[in-house]
Amino acid sequence: MATSLFLSEGAASVQRCAKCGAVTPELSAAAECTACGGLFEIVHAMPDVHGAALLALFGLRCGLKPSAEPSGVWRYLELVMPSAENPVSHPEGNTPLLERGAVQTYARSAGLLLKHEGHNPTGSFKDRGMTVAVTQARRIGARAVACASTGNTSASLAAYAAHAGIPALVFVPRGQIALGKLSQSIAYGARTLLVNGDFDACLRLARESSRELGVYLVNSINPWRVEGQKTIVFEMLQQLGYDAPDWIALPAGNLGNTSAFGKALREAFALGLITRVPRLLAVQAAGAAPFASAFATHFSTHEPVHAETLATAIKIGDPASWDRAVRAITETNGAVTSVSDDEILDAKAVIDASGVGCEPASAASVAGVLQMRMRGVIGEHERVVAVLTGHVLKDPGIIQRYHQETEPRPARANRPVEIDATLAEVERVLSER
Ligand code: F0G
Repeated sequence: MATSLFLSEGAASVQRCAKCGAVTPELSAAAECTACGGLFEIVHAMPDVHGAALLALFGLRCGLKPSAEPSGVWRYLELVMPSAENPVSHPEGNTPLLERGAVQTYARSAGLLLKHEGHNPTGSFKDRGMTVAVTQARRIGARAVACASTGNTSASLAAYAAHAGIPALVFVPRGQIALGKLSQSIAYGARTLLVNGDFDACLRLARESSRELGVYLVNSINPWRVEGQKTIVFEMLQQLGYDAPDWIALPAGNLGNTSAFGKALREAFALGLITRVPRLLAVQAAGAAPFASAFATHFSTHEPVHAETLATAIKIGDPASWDRAVRAITETNGAVTSVSDDEILDAKAVIDASGVGCEPASAASVAGVLQMRMRGVIGEHERVVAVLTGHVLKDPGIIQRYHQETEPRPARANRPVEIDATLAEVERVLSER
């Protein structure tokens, strides 16, 4: 089915079913297509300003205050939610693009840059989608908002719902989310449900609750979340002077972000912001890699798995945004791979020790770049941006295990040393180094 990327007439945006093409008004609260159950995507009117004028507008808004315009999401208003007024913004975005020699050497990728989404207000990229989804929740007068989560979406929702004054309900798999994330959701005041089940069970329950109980669902199946998350790509391209990299690598779980990146690149190319499209590299944890397995069969298969990985953020066996992520990978001539937990921990130790730091799932992107460099899929001189999706403090437990408790001691372990309060002890430690 051929569908247009932008609307040619009318000022409003619409929600369009990606499966059957049925169109629903932008202020509809439906979580999925009432005709066929497919997921919606947002389609905006073609912006009034084009080309260089649009770039100038995005550039101008970087430093404007007050209002939400300094936000790295709302700067791209025309491509996110053109009709938004008073968005629920912290603000968010404006995350750095970092260059660290130690990480480049490790990944054997001299041009590697790190887009660090852990610098967002709640410490993950989720804030970019959440500012838009909670703005939409307020626009439609939602009585409550809900999500299922491996921890970051719930932390973000809790913060933005508190900001908007809307009650939040979060479903998390009991005992399977990192301490930093659980603490955030509790502290920001969300009603936190510890579900006896995995993430996939939480998402099923959240979807059912949204259908039956009328709470507004803000998982990434919500198309407005996707609109916000596109701005990771827009901002990265702006930081690079719209000289697109060859590859963008990102960790993949529920596949919302992979879908958002695909849509962002499609739109950026259609609007002439870039003249060639980077290839997406989606990286899964080996124990939770249904999408990587499907890629190996050219997406002729689709088999959910029982997920097991230390990278709890991406411990997902039945990703919800499957079809649109397939489109993102196919259209960008991208690739999907998986990395083991040991590869993730090793890459994380390098990123952490470079002073940058990230949570385990985020390190999958760099581990994936290394693997693809070794396999020759990514070339030596290709320019790569790896997205670090979450902050190092999200999962303190895994740091303690790796550095202090794992036997045999991992190669990069940095064990703290207990000493008596004497100068001799300090001298002893110094001489060991
Ligand atoms: N990295 C981090 C740190 C995440 O928290 C997630 C997803 C991903 C990567 C994968 O993104 O799901 O769009 O493919 N976390 C969700 C959550 C599932 O509930 O916080 P995805």
